[in-house]
Amino acid sequence: MAKITASVFTSHVPAIGAAMDLGKTKEDYWKPLFAGYDFSKQWMKDNKPDVIFLVYNDHATAFSLDMIPTFAIGTAAEFKPADEGWGPRPVPLVKGHPELASHIAQSVIQQDFDLTIVNKMDVDHGLTVPLSLMCGELDPVKDAWPCPVIPFAVNVVQYPVPSGQRCFNLGQAIRKAVESYDEDIHVHIWGTGGMSHQLQGARAGLINREWDNVWLDQLINDPVACAQTPHIDYVREAGSEGIELVMWLIARGAMSDINDGQATGPAPQLRHRFYHVPASNTAVGHVILENV
Ligand code: DHB
Ligand code: FE
Repeated sequence: MAKITASVFTSHVPAIGAAMDLGKTKEDYWKPLFAGYDFSKQWMKDNKPDVIFLVYNDHATAFSLDMIPTFAIGTAAEFKPADEGWGPRPVPLVKGHPELASHIAQSVIQQDFDLTIVNKMDVDHGLTVPLSLMCGELDPVKDAWPCPVIPFAVNVVQYPVPSGQRCFNLGQAIRKAVESYDEDIHVHIWGTGGMSHQLQGARAGLINREWDNVWLDQLINDPVACAQTPHIDYVREAGSEGIELVMWLIARGAMSDINDGQATGPAPQLRHRFYHVPASNTAVGHVILENV
């Protein structure tokens, strides 16, 4: 059977993608940020999954105010990097996994989570920047991402957005879905976006290092409590875009210590933890957990 072997958590700031695409990673501003991912790139090579289930948010690229799915699963065979205003990022095409994605859609919907099925969409920095951070710089034509990717888009842009608790519960349903797929493959689940940042209004530029790190401690060590963080705390403490963090709870809820909503199994192994301020307007957090 298929199994989830690890979860990866990382911020997705678009300027990080631009720094990679424009050859700026060695500049003083960017060096410490990219140094935090040196371990991760080697770890990706040593722990190459067969499929990445990548939880991210679309930023009015594939969706708009015309249509706002709360949870959307990409079932297509491929996903093009989107043009976000400066042309598409020069990164490889993202290959999907229609068979596993369709199986997960079937299983998760039957577990009473209503997903939107997306057979065609472009993917923005929310998805391509985490891939670039974990896989390094790749030639858009000659290279390929290391494995197929199932994009899973969560609405954290337009209220009402799902609660952290619902995301955590959904993670458990996704794990059940993966574990009922009849092929011996290894799946990574990635939770992306966050950490504290606010891009507009009177508090634009807000970063809360202390709150971010307490939240990370909880995500790793007490995820059941972390899932109970109310919306208002994210917005108040981590800024309006800090709400992207609820997506990390989908990946955490899918880890094998979580059973029936409680952390009753052996805790996952913490392989890497990194925090850096700032990248553009955002605090960058990054964690790798492996199931034991
Ligand atoms: C920034 C961060 C984001 O999460 C985003 O989607 C866009 C911009 C930033 O820090 O600049
Ligand atoms: Fe964002």
